[in-house]
Amino acid sequence: MAPIKNGRLLYKEIPDGYPQPGKHVVYDESELIDLDNVPLNGGLLLKILVLSIDPYLRNRMRDPSVRGFLPAFEIGKPLQNGGVAQVLRSEDPKYTAGTYVAGSYPFQKYLVAQASEVNGLRPVQKKGKLTLSAHVGVAGMPGATAYTGWKEYAKPKAGEVVFVTTGAGCVGAIVIQLAKADGLKVIGSAGSDAKVEYMKSMGADVVFNYKKTKVEDVLKKEGPIDIFWDNVGGEALDAALANCNKHARFIECGMMSVYNGDNAYQMKNLNYIYQFEIQLHGFIILSLIPKYPEFYTEFANRIASGEIKYNEDITVGLENGGAALETIQRGNNTGKSVIAVADY
Ligand SMILES: NC(=O)c1ccc[n+]([C@@H]2O[C@H](COP(=O)([O-])OP(=O)(O)OC[C@H]3O[C@@H](n4cnc5c(N)ncnc54)[C@H](OP(=O)(O)O)[C@@H]3O)[C@@H](O)[C@H]2O)c1
Repeated sequence: MAPIKNGRLLYKEIPDGYPQPGKHVVYDESELIDLDNVPLNGGLLLKILVLSIDPYLRNRMRDPSVRGFLPAFEIGKPLQNGGVAQVLRSEDPKYTAGTYVAGSYPFQKYLVAQASEVNGLRPVQKKGKLTLSAHVGVAGMPGATAYTGWKEYAKPKAGEVVFVTTGAGCVGAIVIQLAKADGLKVIGSAGSDAKVEYMKSMGADVVFNYKKTKVEDVLKKEGPIDIFWDNVGGEALDAALANCNKHARFIECGMMSVYNGDNAYQMKNLNYIYQFEIQLHGFIILSLIPKYPEFYTEFANRIASGEIKYNEDITVGLENGGAALETIQRGNNTGKSVIAVADY
């Protein structure tokens, strides 16, 4: 077969607000690849099927001199994130052609790599309700974030009250289900009425649209809370501090409200941290996952059986990946955001 275009989504410019497709990230088809003859040097030729769009990608689109938990992306190179690929050709006896493999991949259609060069490379399968794309969502990094963060820090007791922000997103919707399974009263917030309905269908007891109803008002009426699962920071965190019980556990998972340059909110209630002996736990999934290997077996089985539910927001085509990147930052995704790079 003649060489074909190896489409890539390149990082072009550091955004100072929301990332824009065509400006900060650009789809490029200048590279060609000969799938039959490209040398593998003992490695693999992978066809990338699915790539994950996650909020933290915005954090990597920063000036490299600014501190962050992962290095800044390099201008001119493809973005990089979790994905699922299929082995097309292999010179590595551990991976036969046809195998599906999850790992961290550059945003391009085909990749030649040694297995040792791909972070987190692991074979994956479709099973029941566990689709290939679910391996980058509910059964992948964000799912593991919800599962391990809850196990490590929630210390739930039946009858307690938990408040979950971005409750209709991938992480939040899993937290709601875990909290209900532990017998808690669950309060969930999200940014649209459709998302509010979705949280209800996940089992949340009290649901509201934070763009219409103030967090403070809901927590005053339905709290005080014992656990706060924080995905947004800012005003929601401040309201949670003012409406929690003594020894409340705050699980600081993310801060969506500040990722795109808007740091305007002034915290007023930080003094409650010591007054109410609040336990504040910030964490990054990479530190917790080695402690909970059952996530990839027992929890995956609960997804496959349909016990743990999820939904996806699928963008078709790598050329549309830049738009998906902007969509999640603006909060317009409905469910786990993934790019279908090829049919799977
Ligand atoms: N600590 C870790 O290791 C780790 C790992 C994975 C994810 N996370 C964090 O977990 C959170 C959820 O991630 P996810 O993958 O499940 O994404 P997600 O919830 O599907 O998408 C992000 C959501 O954030 C909300 N949002 C956007 N801008 C906001 C703003 N200014 N104020 C309040 N909410 C805003 C939107 O939902 P609404 O319409 O509801 O506003 C948007 O849909 C993020 O903060 C992410 O960074 C942390």
